[in-house]
Amino acid sequence: MDVRENRLFLGGCAAEALAREFGTPLYVYEEEVIRSQCRLLRESFAAVAPELHYAMKANFNPAILLILKEEGLGIDAVSPFELRLCLALGFRPEQILLTGNNTSPEEMAGYLALGVPINIGSLVELERYGRLNPGGRVALRINPDVGAGHHSHVITGGPESKFGIYHTEHEAILATLRRHGLRLVGIHSHIGTGILDTGEMLKAMEITLRAAARFGQLEFIDFGGGFGVPYRPGQQPLPIRQLGAAMAERFAAFCKDYGRPLRMKLEPGRFLVAQSGTLLVRVTNLQATPAHTFVGTDSGFNHLVRPILYGAYHEVLNASRVEGAARAVAVAGNICESGDVFSQGAEGIEDRLLPAPEIGQLLAIRDVGAYGMSLSSQYNLRPRPPEVLVGDGRSRLIRRRETYEGLLRDFPGFGEPDGSG
Ligand SMILES: Cc1ncc(COP(=O)(O)O)c(C=O)c1O
Repeated sequence: MDVRENRLFLGGCAAEALAREFGTPLYVYEEEVIRSQCRLLRESFAAVAPELHYAMKANFNPAILLILKEEGLGIDAVSPFELRLCLALGFRPEQILLTGNNTSPEEMAGYLALGVPINIGSLVELERYGRLNPGGRVALRINPDVGAGHHSHVITGGPESKFGIYHTEHEAILATLRRHGLRLVGIHSHIGTGILDTGEMLKAMEITLRAAARFGQLEFIDFGGGFGVPYRPGQQPLPIRQLGAAMAERFAAFCKDYGRPLRMKLEPGRFLVAQSGTLLVRVTNLQATPAHTFVGTDSGFNHLVRPILYGAYHEVLNASRVEGAARAVAVAGNICESGDVFSQGAEGIEDRLLPAPEIGQLLAIRDVGAYGMSLSSQYNLRPRPPEVLVGDGRSRLIRRRETYEGLLRDFPGFGEPDGSG
């Protein structure tokens, strides 16, 4: 992002020009931000050269997946369609790790048929896997009893979390492995997302290592994702180089004690793509109440649910006039719910200081590249916005705006699957 003559530019393209060409609301991704985050993560963990599996749930746009493929990443997939997409894009089965949850027998059989490594997260599923694939190789997701994250909904370790086999279930795991002649090749944990504190990551690592030490034939340990990015101006970023060095050192010491080299796997999602994304929205309304001046826009929580779902902070800029006499405003969407406000914080609706927005101006909601479009919906029968990739002053449409026909396609009698109804 840069600012020229007080207007916002993304990847060398004027935000206003992008909005004119593709319409609003519009998701814009800066390619170089994704690539530089990949480089930063690799450099930070260089001492251990981990296998990086991009958590495609963060953003599954095929063009973005291809950038990550070019950067040499594999995939952390969670569902049959995620798997199908990454295979179609040319990721090899061995570059993928399938970590589902509450996986049905049919889904599990489908994953096995495609020859993709599977990471199992419950004893029932391990039993199911053993029956379907006796003598096979398997990895296990452990709940290390530690959780962390930017909101209680995204903490995936500890007693309140549905994910992973509790680290204390050692005997039950061994019995199931033995019963089906399974070979345990990997141990995995993922404690949550949006973590900015190295202490939590290192604590979970210790518990995962303790669990791993009890199994003799491992080939890899996977410490999941969760690497956070700063969303608020002035927020301290995760000291990723420091964390990488500490984890690499600890891992090397562990491998020495374990008696043979192991591969480290990581599953970053947010860290790689969050800061690449900006949602451009048009101001359509100004409305004052005794509490707030609401700036109404042509998008809403159907396009970016993080603020209403988690009270997540996203910075908002006036892309048409980045600097100027500021006014405290709340930035709202066009969805029929009063919580539909982009400017939220932990305490609810927040005012932001914006250079007096006017109707017709363009606002930029920042850091929406992860869990933005991938969590979007068609609520209020509003289409999802298009997505555009920018870099070196050029732009490329990577997802079309949804259409009325597209939205109705799956309703028998109202539309036909080929969109012609
Ligand atoms: C198993 C697993 N791995 C990786 C991730 C990616 O997390 P993040 O985007 O915080 O890196 C998630 C996200 O929920 C996950 O569930």
